[in-house]
Amino acid sequence: MDFIDLKTPYQRLREPINARIQAVLDHGQYILGPEIEELEDALAAYVGSGYCVAAASGTDALLLALMAYEIGPGDEVITAPFTFIATGEMIALLGANPVFVDIDARTYNLDPALIEAAITPNTKAIMPVSLYGQCADMDAINAIAERHELPVIEDAAQSFGALYQERHSCALSTVGVTSFFPSKPLGCFGDGGALFTDDDAVAKICKELRVHGQDRRYHHPRIGINGRMDTIQAAVLLAKLPVFAEEVEARDRIGKQYAELIDAAFDGVAADRRATVPYVEPHNRSVYAQYTIEVPERDRVQAALADRGIPTAVHYPVPLHLQPAFAFLGEPAGSFPVAEAAAARVMSLPMHPYLCDVEQKEVVSSLYSAIGRDSAAFR
Ligand SMILES: Cc1ncc(COP(=O)(O)O)c(C=O)c1O
Repeated sequence: MDFIDLKTPYQRLREPINARIQAVLDHGQYILGPEIEELEDALAAYVGSGYCVAAASGTDALLLALMAYEIGPGDEVITAPFTFIATGEMIALLGANPVFVDIDARTYNLDPALIEAAITPNTKAIMPVSLYGQCADMDAINAIAERHELPVIEDAAQSFGALYQERHSCALSTVGVTSFFPSKPLGCFGDGGALFTDDDAVAKICKELRVHGQDRRYHHPRIGINGRMDTIQAAVLLAKLPVFAEEVEARDRIGKQYAELIDAAFDGVAADRRATVPYVEPHNRSVYAQYTIEVPERDRVQAALADRGIPTAVHYPVPLHLQPAFAFLGEPAGSFPVAEAAAARVMSLPMHPYLCDVEQKEVVSSLYSAIGRDSAAFR
C-alpha cells in the first residue's frame, strides 16, 4: 500500500499531462514561459484571489512574502511551533525571530486566544499555518491583526483546496502561500509553490523579488532571489487542475469515512487505548493533506503497522522550538505544552484521493489490532 499514491493520478491524466509537457518542449520557453501566467490566472480564479505569483517552491513563496514586507533583523513574526520547518526557517533566514504561540489541541492550528499576548512593538506579521489541510481560525486571527495593523501570511502549504467559511484557503488573509510539492493535495512533478494576494503592490514586488529583484532586465531596485517556478511544472499543474475539485471531494469523503471506521472500531474502548480521529471545525472543509490521528504507544503501533505493510509517518515528531536549529531562541521543553503533547502522539495514515474502501478497511483493522485488540473483533 502507498502512503500517498502518485502513480494513479499520472496514469489517469497521462495524455493531457504529456501533451502539456510536450508543448513546453516544443516552444522551449523553460523559464517564465506562457504557462506560468496561464497557471497564475487559473489559480487566482480558483481560490478567488486578485493575484497569484508562482514560485519555485512553497518555501520560496514564504520567503518572497516575508521579503515583500521587508522583514529582517530585529523583527518578530508570530507563528506556530507545530509545523514543518520551512515556516519558522524562512523567518529566521531573514534574520528575524519566529515568536511561537501554542496551538489549539483539537485542530493543531495557532490558538488565537494566545496571540495578542505575544505581540510586541517588533512584531511585523502573523503567520498561521493551516496544518494537515484544515484552515487556521483566520477570522479571529485577522481581527487581531487588524487591531495591530499587521499583515497575516497564511502558510497554506498543506491546505490548497480547503474551505474556511465557504472561502478558499490562500484567499483568507493579506497573503496566502501554498506548495505544489508532489505529495501535496495539488502536486506537480518536482518543487513548486505560489503566493496569493489582493494587494497589487505586494504582488508586483513578489514578482520582482522572484527574479533577483529586477523591475526590468538587469535593473535591480532591490535584493531578490531566483524563486521562479519552472514552466514545465506549470504545465503539469495546468493539466491536473481540471480534476482537482473532484480530488478534493474524494479527500473529503475518504477523510470522513476514515473517521467513521476508526470511531466504530474503537467504540467502547477506553480513551487511553484508542485512536483519536482528526477534529474538523464545522465551518471548515479539510483537504487532509495528511490524515493524522493520535495513538498511544506510537512507536510500537507504527512498527506493528509496518509489519502488516501499512506505511505511516509522523508529522512532526519535534516541534520547532525544540529543534537544534532554533536553540538560539532559548525556548526550553515545556514552553508550548500543547504542541509538545501533539508531537508525542500524532501519526499519519495512508491518504490520497485514490485510496479505495478495501485499503481503508485494511488500514483501520490493522490499526485496531496494532493498538492491542483482536482484529477479528473489528466490526
Ligand atoms: C506547513 C508547510 N510549510 C511550508 C512548506 C514548504 O513547501 P515546499 O516543500 O514546497 O518548499 C511545507 C511543505 O512541505 C509545509 O508543509
